Amino acid sequence: MSVATPQAAGQRQVALQAQRVLILDFGSQYAQLIARRVREAKVYCEIVRHDITPEQIRKHAPVGLILSGGPSSVYEASAPKCHPQIFELGIPVLGICYGMQLVCETLGGKVASVATREYGRTPCQVTSPADPLFKDFPRETEVWMSHGDQVQEVGGGFLPLARTGSCPVAAVKHEKLPVYGLQFHPEVTHTAAGATLLRNFLFEICHCDGTWELTDFAEEAIRQIRERVGHGRVICGLSGGVDSAVVAALVYRAIGDQLSCILVDNGLLRKNESALVVDEFTNHFRTDLHVVNAEGRFLDVLRGVTEPQEKRRRIGHTFIECFREEATKIQDVRFLAQGTLYPDVIESGAAVDGPAATIKLHHNVGGLPEQLGFELIEPLRDLFKDEVRRLGLELGLPESLVWRHPFPGPGLAVRCLGEVTKAKLDILREADTIVLEEIHRAGLYRQTSQLFAVLLPIQSVGVMGDARTYENVVTIRSVNTDDFMTADWSRLPYEVLARMSTRIINEVKGVNRVCYDISTKPPATIEWE
Ligand code: XMP
Repeated sequence: MSVATPQAAGQRQVALQAQRVLILDFGSQYAQLIARRVREAKVYCEIVRHDITPEQIRKHAPVGLILSGGPSSVYEASAPKCHPQIFELGIPVLGICYGMQLVCETLGGKVASVATREYGRTPCQVTSPADPLFKDFPRETEVWMSHGDQVQEVGGGFLPLARTGSCPVAAVKHEKLPVYGLQFHPEVTHTAAGATLLRNFLFEICHCDGTWELTDFAEEAIRQIRERVGHGRVICGLSGGVDSAVVAALVYRAIGDQLSCILVDNGLLRKNESALVVDEFTNHFRTDLHVVNAEGRFLDVLRGVTEPQEKRRRIGHTFIECFREEATKIQDVRFLAQGTLYPDVIESGAAVDGPAATIKLHHNVGGLPEQLGFELIEPLRDLFKDEVRRLGLELGLPESLVWRHPFPGPGLAVRCLGEVTKAKLDILREADTIVLEEIHRAGLYRQTSQLFAVLLPIQSVGVMGDARTYENVVTIRSVNTDDFMTADWSRLPYEVLARMSTRIINEVKGVNRVCYDISTKPPATIEWE
C-alpha cells in the first residue's frame, strides 16, 4: 500500500470529506451493518453519536446522514433524539426504522404503538416507484420489519412512498427537504433488494462517487493520528492478536518512532507466540518494543485460584500493574492506542452512551486508560474484524498474524481448568500446538473460526503397554461463527480429529484421553471458563 505523505494526505482530506456519510446511532443492533453496506458501496462512513450538533456535522462535511434504528419509542421522555436543526443543513437524510419515526415526529408527523407488532419478512408495495430512492427497485418485494411503533400520520410535509399490509407508511419522503424514511431495514439481507435502496440513497440522492477504498481509510486514519498526536508519544499494548497488531502497524505508519509498544508476556501465551510478535514488531516494524517478562508474577497471583472470574480479575489486575510499571519508564506518554472494533463498542453498549464507556470490557485491558490518564486513540472503532484483517494485509502484516483465530486476553488460563500451574500450562501448550499444526496441515484453519485445546481438571484411567495409567484429559474445541455471539461446533473430518488425538496422546506426556466438544453457543460458550 502506498502511504500518503502529509501533503498528499492533506489534499486527499478534501476529497474524502466530500464523500463522507455519517450514521447517527440510536442504539441499533444494525448500525454496524448499515456502515458495512455503505462501505461495500465504496462510500466512506462513520458512526457517530445520535446527539451530534449541527456544528460538529458541518465540520465533518458529510454528503449524507443516516439515522439508525433503535430500541426506544420516540414518544418516551427518555428517547434519544437528534438535534432538530440537522434537517435544515441541506444534507440528505435517510431515517431507518426508529430513525424514520424520529424524522417524521420531529417534522410534524405522529408516531404511535401498533396493536400487532410487525416482525420478520413482510410483503411491501412501492406506491411511488418513480422516486429516485426506488430506482430499479421491485414494485412488490419482501422487506424486513422489526417494529412495535409506526408513523400513523405523516403530517403536512411528507409523502408516503410505500406500504405493507399493516403499515400504511413503510417509506416516506419530505416534500421540500431532502429527507427520507424507511420503516423497514434495507441493511439486512432479508430485505431482498435492500442494497439497491441504500445505493440509491447514496448515489441518486447524495450523489456519491463510490470510489472509496480501504486504503483511503488507512490514509485518512494516518492523517488524523498525525494531526492529533503532533510531537507526542503514543503507547500501544501488543497481545499477539490481530486488532492490536493492526493498530500498532497503523500508528507506526503515522508517527514512526514516536510509538512505543508494550508486550506483557504473562506466561499464558501460546507456544512461540511472543517470539512471533517480537520478530514482527522489531524486525519488520522497527518499533520501540518493551517486552515485560512477567510469567512468574502471573503464576504467583494465580496460585490456588480455581474460580474462573477470580482468575480473570487477577490476570486483568496484574496486567494493568505490569503495563503501568513499564509505561512509566517511557517518557512523556500522552496517548494510548487501542484496537477497539465496532463490535466491541456495541458489546459495551457505548455507541449511544458515548466515548467514555468504550473500553473493551471483555478484555483484560479494561480500565487501563482511565487508570493511566492517557487519551485514547482507537482508529479501528468503525471497522469489522474482516475489514481489520484486510487493512492489516495492506499495512504489510504477515498472513500468519492477520488470519489468527481470536485468543482471549486471559490466555491459556481460561483453558487450563481449575488451578493454573506451569506444569499444566506446558501440557496445554503442547496439545494446543498439535491441534493447530494439524488443522493447518489439513488446510482447514481458515474454514474454522476458533480452534484450541482445553486441559480438564480431572484424570481418567487408561492403559499404556501393560500398565494402568491415571492421567489428564484434553478436549478439542473448534467452532464456526460469524460474530462470536453464537457459534456452532465445526464438523471436522474424522481423520483430522484422529490425527490430533493420536498425536496428543503419543507426544504430550501426561495425557491419556482426548475428547471433542460438540456443544453450540448458546447454551455453551466458546471458552470453557
Ligand atoms: P465466549 O467464551 O464468551 O467467547 O463464547 C467469545 C469470544 O470472546 C473471547 N473471550 C475473551 N476475550 N478476554 C478476551 O479478550 C476474555 O476474558 C475472553 N473470554 C472469551 C473468546 O475467545 C471468543 O473469541
